[in-house]
Amino acid sequence: MAVRKVIVMGHPTLRQVAQPVDPKLIPTPGFQSFLKDMVETMFDYDGRGLAAPQINESLQVVVMLWDFDAGAEPRLVYLINPEIKPLTKEKSSFWEGCLSVPGLRGNVSRPNKIQVHALNEKGEPFAFVAEGFCATVVQHEVDHLLGKLYIDRIEDMTQLAFNHEFTKFHAPEGTSEDESDSE
Ligand code: NI
Repeated sequence: MAVRKVIVMGHPTLRQVAQPVDPKLIPTPGFQSFLKDMVETMFDYDGRGLAAPQINESLQVVVMLWDFDAGAEPRLVYLINPEIKPLTKEKSSFWEGCLSVPGLRGNVSRPNKIQVHALNEKGEPFAFVAEGFCATVVQHEVDHLLGKLYIDRIEDMTQLAFNHEFTKFHAPEGTSEDESDSE
């Protein structure tokens, strides 16, 4: 296992469409060790989600810290070859951050309810519906697999800020900087 280097905006891998993973490879020791590297890297960089292109591997793999269920322990969720579909036209806006766009935060509006299909870390298909902030996190991560960054989705560029100015001028009252997350 190893902490990998997270690449930042400007690196061409972040702008490529990632390759799907051959499901037969998922149980292999090499791929399982790759998943462990992703988790270790996410924690080392203090992120709550990481997509493989962010460690310069153009593969359709996401790891997320799942802490959306009230009262439950956070757990890891792996999305391999994910597909998402909006279930509503209604959108929600959240301030997003990204380990590949360090120091900044931007307000992005996205569909607030989506259907997700993916393979898990064992290569088994699973599906769930994500809503609210969770829907935003999943869409942010899936965007990485499409060569997109959250800044591409900001409609109003006055809503892009450095972290310290975000905290001073934009953070909703009662929230700390910790609640706006790096993905
Ligand atoms: Ni990100």
